[in-house]
Amino acid sequence: MHQPGLMRYKVIVAALVVALLAGACSNADPKADRPTTTSPPTSAPEAAAARSGLAAAATQADVRVGAAVDAGRLRSEPEYREAIVNHFTSMTPENAMKWTSLRPERDRWDWEDADAIVDFADEHDLEVRGHTLVWGQDAGNGMPAWLTELNDPAEFRRAVTDGITTQLTRYRGRVQRWDVVNEPLEGLGGALDRNPFYQRIGPNYIEEVFRIADAADPDAELWLNEYGTEFLPAKGEQLVQLVTDLVNAGVPIDGVGFQSHVILDVDSAPETQRDVMARIRALGLEVAITELDVPISATRDEAEQIDVYRRMTEACLAQKCAEITVWGVDDDSTWLDVEAIRASNPLLGALSLPSDPLLLGPEFEEKRTYDAVASALRGP
Ligand code: XIL
Repeated sequence: MHQPGLMRYKVIVAALVVALLAGACSNADPKADRPTTTSPPTSAPEAAAARSGLAAAATQADVRVGAAVDAGRLRSEPEYREAIVNHFTSMTPENAMKWTSLRPERDRWDWEDADAIVDFADEHDLEVRGHTLVWGQDAGNGMPAWLTELNDPAEFRRAVTDGITTQLTRYRGRVQRWDVVNEPLEGLGGALDRNPFYQRIGPNYIEEVFRIADAADPDAELWLNEYGTEFLPAKGEQLVQLVTDLVNAGVPIDGVGFQSHVILDVDSAPETQRDVMARIRALGLEVAITELDVPISATRDEAEQIDVYRRMTEACLAQKCAEITVWGVDDDSTWLDVEAIRASNPLLGALSLPSDPLLLGPEFEEKRTYDAVASALRGP
């Protein structure tokens, strides 16, 4: 388990919500003994007929509704598969397409998990958001050591070019869109993050990797993905500036994803996000919520959680967003509850346990958060 990326949230906590730490809750995990599921997989036609309120409402609103998916659970849990097909129209591999998973060594690719997700999407008529080609800020989580340790700029560039080209060529026509660059800005904003891509290729690395991706799959949508702008207006400003520069330089970028891990209890987050989205839309690009989760915390109860879900959905729709993806299928497994991650991070440690941040409960039951999003999608 790598932790470095999560350190950035420490910085945010220190800057913004020290108060949250006051109310740390119990550490017992009541989910530890949950039974595993046994029901048979649902066939595609049955699943299509049974598609739930959420998927139907999203389709009606012309928005994709997605979930981050874990390849291991996809293989082993029929009810997990069933929930994905019933409730969602898009999947994002939670980790399977990060280079740490997909290309652990320079000359060794491991396609098994990523292929399983893409095959499942094909079988069930779901779309796939490929996540992610370049995640320099979180070297360790997103990028393997062999790459970040490659010091020679020409060799580094060659490895990146070959890697992106191999990956996009393999999934041409099957992965409709890619998060090409994830988290290019420093945690609190202010500048481009000085990650290994910046250091080896230079500040133009973003432009360069978008062009490489475009050459490898001219039909795929190419997205930039960022976090924290719902809490940090200055970072939102900088995101708009960065994307404006890319558009002016003719870079083939189609959209901007807003991660939306609404961890901090900051009341204006949905409306702040809506305003940044509006400015990206004004540049002619698409916008999407790409990693939404809203945990229960010491300062946020369920009623507030439901309200944030509703307002985040409304904010997205107000900007005609293309997608709302939540960062996990059900509350039984969410990155926010992983002990090692929580231990490394004072903010996450201050969340309630379980943090119950998603739309489906641990038995895949539809929660009130689910109803709130579905009803916001249906409109007034
Ligand atoms: C997280 C995964 O959910 C964890 O399982 C993994 O250990 C670390 O990465 N922003 C992103 C996602 O863009 O890729 C991260 O996913 C969460 C934060």
